[in-house]
Amino acid sequence: MQYDFNFSSPTKIYFGKTALNNLKGELDKYGKNILLIYGGGSIKKIGLYDKIIKILKEANKEVYELSGVTPNPQYKKMMEGVQIARKTPIDLILAVGGGSVIDLAKGVAASIYCFDEDPYQKYWLEKKPLDNKVVPIGAILTMAGTGSEANGGSVMSNDDLKLKVGRVFPEEVYPKFAILNPEYTYSVPQYQMRAGSFDIMSHLMEQYFSDFDDNVSDYLNEALMKCVINSLKKANINPTDYEARSNLMWSATLALNHNLVNLSKTEDWEVHAIEHQISAFTDCTHGMGLAAISVPYYKLIYKDGLAKFKRFALNVWGIEDKGSDQEIALKGLDALKEFIRDEIGVLSIKDLGVTGTQMISDIADSVELGGGYKILTRDDVYQVLLDSYKLNY
Ligand code: NZQ
Ligand code: ZN
Repeated sequence: MQYDFNFSSPTKIYFGKTALNNLKGELDKYGKNILLIYGGGSIKKIGLYDKIIKILKEANKEVYELSGVTPNPQYKKMMEGVQIARKTPIDLILAVGGGSVIDLAKGVAASIYCFDEDPYQKYWLEKKPLDNKVVPIGAILTMAGTGSEANGGSVMSNDDLKLKVGRVFPEEVYPKFAILNPEYTYSVPQYQMRAGSFDIMSHLMEQYFSDFDDNVSDYLNEALMKCVINSLKKANINPTDYEARSNLMWSATLALNHNLVNLSKTEDWEVHAIEHQISAFTDCTHGMGLAAISVPYYKLIYKDGLAKFKRFALNVWGIEDKGSDQEIALKGLDALKEFIRDEIGVLSIKDLGVTGTQMISDIADSVELGGGYKILTRDDVYQVLLDSYKLNY
């Protein structure tokens, strides 16, 4: 563990089939006014909305609602929530949905009392430290993927600026509690389930592919990656396989709570940086954008992190320890590609609305450059996108 770190995981998690029974006890800790935030209606279809409203009424809460949060949530929508909460002081924000709803709820929570500047400019673009009061959040998760239920991440799109920008808020913005019932995820469309699962996988890889030391975080990470691979295969066959869905849900939380597999690591996150701009231009599903560029990206950088890519092949994909390090590393990346092809189903950004080299060039111009084993240039980003577009990897 070569770099010093602090450990604290502040979200109280209630996990399992009876998790919702704990909502009442949590609500008792907060005042009367609740802002309920949710998406396009899936929580009504699965009957969750009615259950939550009943619990809120029984707890004598006054409920204000912000609905219609879209995937790749928009700053404009977030500011609608801020306006509601500026009219009536809100005691708790209850976010019910996937990462988009929870991310937007965090944005509302952090921005209600931000009067000095435009919150997007301050907190997402300039990433200034949080210096105003924050309204507490609780989360009820309906889809596994982002880890937003127990982290400080908030990714906010801004159509006017053609930007999708994430930031990690400090502990005050983490959900105070999160209710995780894997059965809620049974109704997630297969495309979204696959995308969410690749998002988990990508979070793990972004943190794994950095540094060369022997580190607890990487051993935990390998176990989580194997769990995601096996569980997605099972959930693809049987979407109501509780074991598989619960494994995916808990892996997602552990994969990105900024308190586990990243500890004592420098991390990468360039796949996410590129994907966010693909989403900004196409509104594609986050996990699918990641799936379409991961192999071209790793093929571009693997020689700079050869020992780690070899370890990935051996320990995650079970590749035989035979041949040169380079050959073994490439076999690992081939196994990743096969997994994406067979279990995720999207290998090219062409399938996600990228229209050609002009758009690729525009996306490449807008990506924040960084990386793990290799710091990318703008032309590297262009190449990754082109390779994905042409399936040339
Ligand atoms: O809007 P509704 O009707 O609820 O439908 C949603 C949405 O269309 C649907 N869905 C969710 N639960 C469902 C369901 N449909 C049926 N049954 C259910 N139980 O799924 C669709 C996608 O939902 P969304 O919340 O967008 O998915 P996800 O959880 O993958 O979140 C993606 C967003 O999170 C950001 C992404 O960039 C993207 O904007 N991320 C957030 C991170 C964080 N906070 O740390 C990190 C990630 O890397 C990621 O960037
Ligand atoms: Zn992600």
